[in-house]
Amino acid sequence: MIKIAIMGYGTIGSGVAEVLQVNRESIARRSGEEIEVKYILDLRDFPGEAVQDKIVHDYRMIVNDPEVRIVVETMGGVEPAYTFVRAMLEAGKHVTTSNKALVAARGAELIALAKEKNVNFMFEASVGGGIPIIRSLNSCLTADEIEEITGIVNGTTNYMMTRMCEEGLEFDDVLKDAQAKGYAEKDPTADIEGYDACRKIAILTSLVCGQQVDFEDIHTEGITAITSADIRYAAKMGRSIKLLASSRKTKDGFAAMVAPFLLPPKHPLHNVNDVFNAIFVHGNVLGDAMFYGSGAGKLPTASAVAADIVEIARHLDVNIAVEWSTKKQRLVDFGQIENRYFVRTTVEKETIRKVFGNVSFVSVEGFKEECGFITEVMCEAEYEKKARELGNVLQMIRVA
Ligand code: HSE
Repeated sequence: MIKIAIMGYGTIGSGVAEVLQVNRESIARRSGEEIEVKYILDLRDFPGEAVQDKIVHDYRMIVNDPEVRIVVETMGGVEPAYTFVRAMLEAGKHVTTSNKALVAARGAELIALAKEKNVNFMFEASVGGGIPIIRSLNSCLTADEIEEITGIVNGTTNYMMTRMCEEGLEFDDVLKDAQAKGYAEKDPTADIEGYDACRKIAILTSLVCGQQVDFEDIHTEGITAITSADIRYAAKMGRSIKLLASSRKTKDGFAAMVAPFLLPPKHPLHNVNDVFNAIFVHGNVLGDAMFYGSGAGKLPTASAVAADIVEIARHLDVNIAVEWSTKKQRLVDFGQIENRYFVRTTVEKETIRKVFGNVSFVSVEGFKEECGFITEVMCEAEYEKKARELGNVLQMIRVA
């Protein structure tokens, strides 16, 4: 019997307990031993509920109990999760977490500490919910140089963009609906401003390059500026608009960014809709691979945490190597990242051609005072310069 503790009995933490119960037999078979939840750390008491007797309020109860071998962290946020997780690793306990904020901010350090203590720090659920992307990068795609990793890694915004594209709804109405369905948080800032996706691509890029990528260094734009007018242009071009988190290896290093993109139907992420997530990976010998599935929600995320528990149970005395050092990885300056740009403007076509050169124009019925155009490939700094020269830019969305 392997005793575990769960820190944080919210949506994901209670989901982990549920998964361990529902699949008790197969999880025991795969782990080699039964898994038993000994403690649940939470501020609340849960009177009358089955978990009532397991509730503790002081994390040191768990730290000081040598019977507990594995600790699940599903509290969210950097503190106090970081302090608690560090204490668990220091005490020689394995840790699995779903907490992307913690992993993005302190992942390299906690991986190093786990190695020093000959335990494991696992974080499969921190990116892509139930999609097995972390283990795939760390343990499967180890023969490749990963040259690109581009994903739809935020379920809330993907649901919103899908509804806006399919039904022509406005941002505020779709956000209210996403909140009513429980996808978006009450404070949805981290989702709609792209901060959540930014942390996830920082984690994936760190794993791909083996060094620390600071999320603060990644240029991030959310979906708040997208309007139904943009959706009408997208429809005219047969494209969808998706919030992409992307990292590409260039001759100058990794170029990472988060922003809405216009995707043509042939793009591998074009048909990823609703709350689903998908991550496209290109390796220099593998070629292309796609990981697709339930990227958020209670049970999909808990499934990934429970899979980490099984993996740890199989390696109780072994530290599984994770290549992610604390050495900082410098990213390509945002101004040097190359893209194509779709622009809406009230400026006349002759001036557009004079400033941007060869462009393809797009017009939509009912938008008489403006036109849209797509530029050729240029770096962000050059686009900015030309956009200033043009003036009157109503909207810019990058084109994949
Ligand atoms: N808010 C996140 C999302 C949860 O919508 O994808 C999963 O990380």
